[in-house]
Amino acid sequence: MRRETQAGERRVGITDTTLRDAHQSLLATRLKTEDMLPIAEMMDEVGYHSLEVWGGATFDSCLRFLREDPWERLRELRKRFKRTKLQMLLRGQNLVGYKHYPDDVVEEFVKRAVANGIDIMRIFDALNDVRNMEKAIEVSVREGAHVQATVCYTISPVHDTEHFVRVARDLKDMGAQSICVKDMAGILSPVKAAELVSSLKEKVGLPVQVHCHYTSGMAAMTYLKAVEAGADAIDCAASSMALSTSQPAAETMVAVLAETPYDTGLDLDLLAKIAEHFREVRKKYGEFDVASPTVDVKVLQYQIPGGMISNFISQLSQQNALDKLDEVLEEVPRVRKDLGYPPLVTPSSQIVGAQAVLNVLAGERYKMVTNEVRAYFKGLYGRPPAPVDPEVQRKVIGDERPIDGRPADLLEPGLEEAKRAVAPYMERPEDVLSYALFPNVALDFLKERQAGATGVDYNLVEEAEQDGGVGYYPA
Ligand code: CO
Repeated sequence: MRRETQAGERRVGITDTTLRDAHQSLLATRLKTEDMLPIAEMMDEVGYHSLEVWGGATFDSCLRFLREDPWERLRELRKRFKRTKLQMLLRGQNLVGYKHYPDDVVEEFVKRAVANGIDIMRIFDALNDVRNMEKAIEVSVREGAHVQATVCYTISPVHDTEHFVRVARDLKDMGAQSICVKDMAGILSPVKAAELVSSLKEKVGLPVQVHCHYTSGMAAMTYLKAVEAGADAIDCAASSMALSTSQPAAETMVAVLAETPYDTGLDLDLLAKIAEHFREVRKKYGEFDVASPTVDVKVLQYQIPGGMISNFISQLSQQNALDKLDEVLEEVPRVRKDLGYPPLVTPSSQIVGAQAVLNVLAGERYKMVTNEVRAYFKGLYGRPPAPVDPEVQRKVIGDERPIDGRPADLLEPGLEEAKRAVAPYMERPEDVLSYALFPNVALDFLKERQAGATGVDYNLVEEAEQDGGVGYYPA
């Protein structure tokens, strides 16, 4: 239970990301439901502002790697979190995938996510193009979720405080109830955070939450300055699942803020027990554990997310071209400039990264071009923050005219076809959505499920929970 606030104090909320972003950032999104459920009730006691438990890459990872039904995970978590608000990360019109989906799919997905237990929808678009978030916001509001709209933080000549305030105001006009500043790369400095948060608070007039990754080592300091500047909530992870490319540790921020007028009121002893659970659990995921024990200085030098750098290392080693790493890292800002300075987050980080590798390996820039870059220059991802380079655009798409409108307006509805395709395997209406998002992966999953070869044995988990002795590790 949380301590009470005293006069003159402003309670700061902590969102715990351990069940979503932390393992997406540290363990390749592999954390299994069976390792979440046994600790859920204890986490529910803490008094977090919310728990981020769903969305981002977890949906894809459940179906593709874990052979789990992501919807089932959400329902099982919801059952155990009786007091705490559950939150998901939604990539705007991309939902939890990597491309735009038609409006009917967006509508049905948001509806089902809320119906299965999501209270807070955190919605972003990689380009901060609010048209790509409009539909998801509209449906979330209608379904009764709290809409936390997001501005993706990045550093570029066009991304000044004015830009972020303008985006946030547009999002408020669309129905957002709070604003998240999303620093996926861990490059938001303490001083810039204070400036940005106070401008947002003053000029937008909504609660502000800050989401940082620890990669560059700045995030805990950034949080302190952001809180002093008026931030209402910050994102943290259990200490055993924090730091490196994950979030700052909840325990650290709780202890630091307890000596300020912004006490979180959370109980360190309880947080320590939760961290202990994940310390043990994490050992099972060693093969996926990518955490670096040190600060990633390249992130400070190149201002790109740590995940991109590790991708480069694996791509280049496959091509026997690891010696080209520095060239690729220098090519990234050039490609980004050509593309009108997109923030680097899924899917733009993959688009920029893959093209930077091609530009270096081919020995000539844009001699070879990915399909995604072609679509990008056609306007199919939305409006870039700044105009794209006209010469590069001509080289990539010739005289073709890019579209000007909202990209999803070009898409045909997708639900009916999905319903037909899953009909032979369908057990729940959510299966249609799994297919609409990831047709091949979902179909494999649904077929296997029908054959009885997938999923979590929830009875086993519950038995283990009841039998306190077995504790956290059902066989
Ligand atoms: Co994140």
